[in-house]
Amino acid sequence: MRDLEINGLTGEEETRRQYEYIEKARQYVAQKEKEAGRKLTCCVHTFGCQMNARDSEKLLGILTDIGYVETEDEHADFVIYNTCTVRENANNKVYGRLGYLSNFKKKNPHMMIALCGCMMQEPTVVEKIRKSYRFVDLVFGTHNIYKFAELLCNRMESDSMIIDIWKDTDKIVEDLPIRRKFSFKSGVNIMFGCNNFCSYCIVPYVRGRERSREPKDIIREIEGLVADGVCEVMLLGQNVNSYGKNLEQPVTFAELLREVNKIEGLKRIRFMTSHPKDLSDDLILAMKECDKVCKHMHLPLQSGSSRILKIMNRHYDKEQYLTIVKKLREAIPDIALTTDIIVGFPGETEEDFQETLEVVKQVEYDSAFTFIYSKRTGTPAAAMEDQCDPAEVKRHFDLLLKEVQQISAKKAMALEGKVMEVLAEEQNTQDASLITGRLSNNSVVHFPGTPDMIGKLFMVKLTECKGFYYLGEIAENA
Ligand code: 5AD
Ligand code: SF4
Repeated sequence: MRDLEINGLTGEEETRRQYEYIEKARQYVAQKEKEAGRKLTCCVHTFGCQMNARDSEKLLGILTDIGYVETEDEHADFVIYNTCTVRENANNKVYGRLGYLSNFKKKNPHMMIALCGCMMQEPTVVEKIRKSYRFVDLVFGTHNIYKFAELLCNRMESDSMIIDIWKDTDKIVEDLPIRRKFSFKSGVNIMFGCNNFCSYCIVPYVRGRERSREPKDIIREIEGLVADGVCEVMLLGQNVNSYGKNLEQPVTFAELLREVNKIEGLKRIRFMTSHPKDLSDDLILAMKECDKVCKHMHLPLQSGSSRILKIMNRHYDKEQYLTIVKKLREAIPDIALTTDIIVGFPGETEEDFQETLEVVKQVEYDSAFTFIYSKRTGTPAAAMEDQCDPAEVKRHFDLLLKEVQQISAKKAMALEGKVMEVLAEEQNTQDASLITGRLSNNSVVHFPGTPDMIGKLFMVKLTECKGFYYLGEIAENA
């Protein structure tokens, strides 16, 4: 693994260089097409978070640009797994699927297999792949995804596996091809990496230090997306609340939100993820003032015990967290709150768990992602002695899940009968007479409509709550 990805080029020079590789790769693919006597297909499979989903759109952008035809089928001629390593089971899934892929490759001489993403930033993983998964063609990490076309060319010119992993980078390369999964909405990276080092989390080790994009680049990208039919953006960062701190001319996330809110034609703005320790009063004000910002905040709690939060290195305690929730609800009464919670962090006692349960009952989250603590080698928590008893952790996890689900159902039901604003997103896949849209709080609503409504906002009466989604009808007073 090399230390820092620097080759002396600026971002713009690198973009130009990569377009040369894209052109070259196009010729290699055309050659392969001729040999095969047919178009070649590609499949990008994403594990993990929204950040990875966005990276996959970049991978697919390059693959389709050089001539591959997209397919969901892993029998494709080019299969790439964009991996996640936040929990151990994410790694196991990848090894399992690689076993399958090797059989496909035996039958298809044109097939190439690539692996990238967070899991590849772990040296032990790369060693295992080098030794035991020799049929893999290309391995790269999170910092050099922009070099995909170049690495592909390298592989086409060589007989053996290409591995290119960097520990970190200070470069942001803009304007490479992207193929969006959805026509009407898109993720937009506003920053990369994380500086927080929560003691359980592997992300800072695999995604490197925090780097923010320039506001003008973000605005330009969103304007381009809107011109291309996008009406909703999700601003992405591991901790959006520390956006802009390392820019030459620092800008806060609240300021960025206000700028994005001004973009004409854009209908909705979402963002993810907010770290409670950096959530400013100005952000709450910006959310209240900006009409396009959705009334939804994902605010990871992780634990309700101040003692555990301290060992987790989260830099807030239970009271501070509850104060933020109170301020958010005072400013935006109908805001939806969602969260992440870890059960079974080393040393977590019955009392600690009860405190988490208490916070969950008090906040009444609209939904919550609950995770069993997973030991990640290299993180401080992995070296802690008092790892919890798995049976006890399972019992706590089940109790928490039950509580979270009961509260979610109650919260969803409370909106039944209400008239709310819905963004029409797509034609329903099962019933073409229905349009599927989303509420500001991210819940799904199906209602009678026609495709010309897509991309517009409507007042919809939520006639029936079906648990996780609603059936509705356009309100008379729309
Ligand atoms: N074990 C379990 N869950 C984890 N998360 C991060 N690291 C771990 C881990 N080692 C969870 C956190 C984070 C979410 C994306 O994943 O709750 O917010
Ligand atoms: Fe991991 Fe904490 Fe960074 Fe989130 S803020 S990615 S939990 S280290």
